[in-house]
Amino acid sequence: MERRISDFTGSIATQPLRDEHRKTYEILEEFQMNRISDESFIEHIEFLLEHHFPLEERILFPSFEPYLKDFLPYMEPIKMVMAEHNGVRNLYRKFREMGDRKFLIEISSLLMQHIYKEENGLFQQIDKILPEEKKNEVFFRLHHGMMEK
Ligand SMILES: [Fe+2]
Ligand SMILES: [Fe+2]
Repeated sequence: MERRISDFTGSIATQPLRDEHRKTYEILEEFQMNRISDESFIEHIEFLLEHHFPLEERILFPSFEPYLKDFLPYMEPIKMVMAEHNGVRNLYRKFREMGDRKFLIEISSLLMQHIYKEENGLFQQIDKILPEEKKNEVFFRLHHGMMEK
């Protein structure tokens, strides 16, 4: 099943993470249609928390921050997606504590919105604004981070 969440093709700075988004989006749809087990979904949430979010938070967003400042004084797009990462973290912690499946469902809808927002908002700004040599640097650092997994 091929469903595109964005028709926009990214630059090399965002494409590795966009590729991961496609995979996540597929899993979210499968989960929402009850086609995969909760365990498989949980495994993917842990992959996001341990791998995908840190790559964005430690490599992509900090590289973009100085350039975004020139365009938007309040850093809103980065703050917004960071708040969503923390939202997923909090919901997952609650799920771990209480074991209530409703938290997994909340996580799945939050993640859908989140990916949509990154793909069509922040990532597009990065592709437009980040200077070419910075894009190369981000690509190599992401690639290296992905290899470490
Ligand atoms: Fe994210
Ligand atoms: Fe992401």
